Amino acid sequence: MSESLMVNRFTTGEAPKRLRRVLTYGTFDLLHYGHVRLLRRAAALGDYLIVALSTDEFNASKGKSSFYSYGIRKEILESIRYVDLVIPEENWEQKIDDIKRYEIDVVVMGSDWKDSPRFDYLKDYCELVFLDRTDGISTTDVKRELKE
Ligand code: CTP
Repeated sequence: MSESLMVNRFTTGEAPKRLRRVLTYGTFDLLHYGHVRLLRRAAALGDYLIVALSTDEFNASKGKSSFYSYGIRKEILESIRYVDLVIPEENWEQKIDDIKRYEIDVVVMGSDWKDSPRFDYLKDYCELVFLDRTDGISTTDVKRELKE
């Protein structure tokens, strides 16, 4: 285990404790309170929260576009106290590599995926936790309401 993943407890004499690392994915455009609540709950599942943030190119490949560019969305997320690290999400296939590279213990997905077997394969590598969405808010809704 690399030293960066340990918390030293030299002063107390306790054995070093390994950080519990949490990873979640998303676009987080026009950051809103549903995102903040998701990030707070994800961070509470461990000691270190990594957000894999969808790049503009990845979103374009899904036919989506964000209001803010990747760089701005990353800057905003990095200013949130619950977020320790932001990495790019560039494709659907990177998750196992991410879990191994960052020694992830828990992957968090929105409850939109709860009934889908789509991410079951991740359970061979880490815990998989689905967190309920906050009702009544989404980036899509905000964009639509601002247009009206
Ligand atoms: N999320 C949430 N509650 C909401 C909206 C989003 O918990 N009301 C969570 C999603 O489940 C996901 C993360 O926030 O885990 C990022 O979601 P994202 O798709 O970027 O946000 P949305 O507001 O859902 O954006 P869109 O309307 O473009 O789908």
